[in-house]
Amino acid sequence: MIFETHAHYDDEAFDTDRDELLSSMNENGIGLIVNATASKKTVEQSLELCKKYPFIYTTIGVHPSDCAEMDEEELSWLKNQCSYEKAVAVGEIGLDYHYDEPPKDVQKKWFEAQLQMARDVKLPVIIHSRDAAKDTLDIMKAMKAEEIGGDIHCFSYSVEMAREYLNMGFFIGVGGVITFKNGKKLREVVEYAPIEQIVIETDSPYLAPEPYRGKRNSSLYLPYVVEKIAEIKGLTPDEVMDITTSNAKRLYRI
Ligand code: NI
Repeated sequence: MIFETHAHYDDEAFDTDRDELLSSMNENGIGLIVNATASKKTVEQSLELCKKYPFIYTTIGVHPSDCAEMDEEELSWLKNQCSYEKAVAVGEIGLDYHYDEPPKDVQKKWFEAQLQMARDVKLPVIIHSRDAAKDTLDIMKAMKAEEIGGDIHCFSYSVEMAREYLNMGFFIGVGGVITFKNGKKLREVVEYAPIEQIVIETDSPYLAPEPYRGKRNSSLYLPYVVEKIAEIKGLTPDEVMDITTSNAKRLYRI
């Protein structure tokens, strides 16, 4: 079976057929799914999904692009949600400098606050980092993130940067980009990283793999990602599924 480590099934892209799609997961080999959250609203929606589907778990956290309005009250609400039995990580948290807003100092403040929250509640972190390689690593080192553990979701940096996170014991999240024509950098990272530190994800509804690039993504397309990793690592798709599933169970302590 495949363990989907990062999808957003609360997204409105699934409003028309969410139940039908999620009900078809198990029969298509997708055994477990972690629904990643990005805001208070998506946490609430994700908790509903967890209650409805035994195979869905959730993260708890506010995405850097959604942290402009965050305050201490929201942080304490998030912390309370972390005690739910199907809450398996704090995330997605981090830094995103692709757009100018929210300001960098605001993003950094809530990234640090949520790293501290993860340490307090003893959950791993799911890191979102885009165009912010140096600041992300600096903060994680300063906060001793190696003691917290987690996953760098949708890894988009170089082999050198991957080495830093692998040495801290982090997992590297690999998705549809690995099948893209311009996904060479990620293929190099996958070649370099030990298979024991790779987990697979879609980031649905985004980043559908080839041959569906540009379409709505879902966990049902994960076999394309598995196949590509198998090719790079010289393993069979079954081996990749087994190893990455056991990695994901270690990551999320399920
Ligand atoms: Ni995501």
